[in-house]
Amino acid sequence: MSSESGSVTRSEVVCVTGGSGYIGSWLVCLLLRRGYTVHATVKNLKDERETKHLEALEGADSRLRLFQIDLLDYDSIVAAVNGAAGVFHLASPCIVDQVQDPEKELLDPAIKGTDNVLTAAKELGVRRVVVTSSISAIIPSPNWPADVVKGEDCWTDTEYCKQKGVWYPLSKTLAEKAAWEFSKEKGLDVVVVNPGTVMGPILPPGLNASMLMILRLLQGCTDIYEDFFMGSVHVKDVALAHILVYENKSASGRHLCVEAISHYGDFAAKVAELYPEYNVPRLPKDTQPGLLRAKTGSKKLMDLGLQFIPMEQIIKDSVESLRSKGFIS
Ligand SMILES: NC(=O)c1ccc[n+]([C@@H]2O[C@H](COP(=O)([O-])OP(=O)(O)OC[C@H]3O[C@@H](n4cnc5c(N)ncnc54)[C@H](OP(=O)(O)O)[C@@H]3O)[C@@H](O)[C@H]2O)c1
Repeated sequence: MSSESGSVTRSEVVCVTGGSGYIGSWLVCLLLRRGYTVHATVKNLKDERETKHLEALEGADSRLRLFQIDLLDYDSIVAAVNGAAGVFHLASPCIVDQVQDPEKELLDPAIKGTDNVLTAAKELGVRRVVVTSSISAIIPSPNWPADVVKGEDCWTDTEYCKQKGVWYPLSKTLAEKAAWEFSKEKGLDVVVVNPGTVMGPILPPGLNASMLMILRLLQGCTDIYEDFFMGSVHVKDVALAHILVYENKSASGRHLCVEAISHYGDFAAKVAELYPEYNVPRLPKDTQPGLLRAKTGSKKLMDLGLQFIPMEQIIKDSVESLRSKGFIS
């Protein structure tokens, strides 16, 4: 079976790094549903919390292989990528607070890990690599002209990140830059997806950073992260975005992947309105002064056929999943 682009055979083998994670699990799920054979990477094959939910997916018994990798161990990556026509590189540490050693915990695995994955892909003749970057590689960018919408042209200010000690955006920005540099120098076909804050149904047993954020809000946490825009996006849309940019040969460059950009205060107010039974705090409405609203921020993905699930449904799917998994009652 071929895609619209005519270049992708859906029975082919693809590799998903970070396959055990929140977004990775949904991507593996959708790829299996589409007929692909998937090499998914996990950090520890012996840990059932990383493997069981993947092994339970439809098609997993015959078309899923799990590989243990460490992003800093090139040979482990080669074994996972070997035989794959395409690679989706999602694995990256997602620690947004309490970083003790930024170099070791975030920057090295993100940047050297990307380099290792792309080197393996090039060596093994992979056709296209989809790299999962983030809206965090687009903002914070405080020196961007105030009257110009921040989109795929805009890059996070790395000096500002260092000054403020915000290491996760720095890790995503430097990793994405490394990917573009590699692509240019070595001639590897790379496409990038830049998701906002990803929410929706949870497949793994544990919670990732973005679902923890909405859980904290439901529990009454009043933290407002400086420069934190709510670029909400449904986890299934993020997984689909990866597949669309992989399958459509014409897709190129960065792809901002958000359904809506809102003030964090407005997002919290929406959660409170939908779920008055929880202790959602009232936050200032204007949490990011000067925020510009763009209705078609993710136009590139919309043009590829992605119809984004609206924010209200994203919130409902998130809360229902947090409830059914027992994170809130
Ligand atoms: N969630 C969001 O809102 C969001 C938004 C924009 C971009 N992203 C990006 O999307 C990707 C997936 O994020 P997620 O939300 O799905 O987070 P997640 O659930 O924490 O997934 C991260 C994955 O990376 C793996 N990983 C981390 N460090 C590794 C290492 N040193 N060696 C091998 N594997 C390693 C993790 O393995 P373990 O499970 O074993 O730790 C996990 O499978 C990341 O690149 C993240 O930056 C996420």
